[in-house]
Amino acid sequence: MSALAPTYARYPVEFASGSGCVLTDVEGTEYLDFLAGIAVCSLGHSHPAVVGAVQEQAARLMHVSNLFTNAPMVRLAERLVERSFGRSVYFANSGAEANEAALKLVRKARPKGDVVSVHGAFHGRTFGALSATPQESKQAPFAPLVPGFRAVEATAEALRATVDGDTAAVLLEPVQGESGVHPLPPEVLAAAREACDRTGAALVFDEVQCGVGRTGTLWAYEQAGVVPDAMTLAKGLGGGMPIGALVIGEKLSGVFAPGDHGSTFAGGPVSAAAANAVLDVVDSPEFLAGVHERGERLAEGLKELPGVTDVRARGLMVAADVSADAPEVARRALLEQRLVINATGPATLRFVPPLTVTEAEIDTALERLYALL
Ligand SMILES: Cc1ncc(COP(=O)(O)O)c(C=O)c1O
Repeated sequence: MSALAPTYARYPVEFASGSGCVLTDVEGTEYLDFLAGIAVCSLGHSHPAVVGAVQEQAARLMHVSNLFTNAPMVRLAERLVERSFGRSVYFANSGAEANEAALKLVRKARPKGDVVSVHGAFHGRTFGALSATPQESKQAPFAPLVPGFRAVEATAEALRATVDGDTAAVLLEPVQGESGVHPLPPEVLAAAREACDRTGAALVFDEVQCGVGRTGTLWAYEQAGVVPDAMTLAKGLGGGMPIGALVIGEKLSGVFAPGDHGSTFAGGPVSAAAANAVLDVVDSPEFLAGVHERGERLAEGLKELPGVTDVRARGLMVAADVSADAPEVARRALLEQRLVINATGPATLRFVPPLTVTEAEIDTALERLYALL
């Protein structure tokens, strides 16, 4: 029996090292990684810029607590503000924690207000984030959940009909990740924006998975043309180091005061240094254009594969519906084809490779999938 709590059904493969899009297991076998630690290793494995930043910062100063500032954290906050709608940033250690911070922020802005989320959403596993994640299988064993959450269909009509003067916030992923890469239509995001403007509620975008260049723009909201009042980030931001962030815009900028929220490790200098190294690479028009182009190549290639019934893509956030048993395809891809992908549902495969993936690696992944499908 394993000493690990059985909260994950883990694959029988143990990785020992990684470089770029290649992972090597303890026996020396190489795998092509199109999962990137679930959209985390945005520059691939052991990218010299991230490794260098972490090593340099770890040797200099690893932790001081949030009773003090530290230079990498301040620089990162300034960059996130400069490159978005934000006025300030609260740091966290994960996506769920960033969402918890967002939930507290909007509740403080509108005391007793409800939070509206949509079906298909995934916002994390902590109690608040789980309460905004309307999935029976994930919620039911942990009832009662946090009160004050309402889930509606992800349609303009449902949002218009639901959001009212008792709504603190609408929380949405511009591109839903865990449901299998479902971009919310621009009119749905626009309707959420209008409903929030009409009622004084806050619009919060969860860009934990779709942010930081994943969709081919630095933030997914840029493609929809709808600007939120706050945005949560994590996953790809740290390039493999744990970091989350809540970017707070003008409307909510005066809400948090000293003592309202906090976290011992959040914004630690080593994670922040890694995130700065990630932004150095990702935040360039050429790099983002490359993400878009290589995402198209992957999506177009997937459409040609046998048994693929639908492909949804925004940059390098790609899903393919298949007529086969998707979890079994993902398992065989790993064990037989040495290709790391995952299934987000019984018929859906997800591809979130490092943003540095090459065209040749995309073609190799497609060949390996072809052999399976
Ligand atoms: C959109 C979204 N929000 C929140 C989370 C939770 O992030 P974490 O696992 O870092 O808590 C995830 C994780 O998959 C996510 O995809």
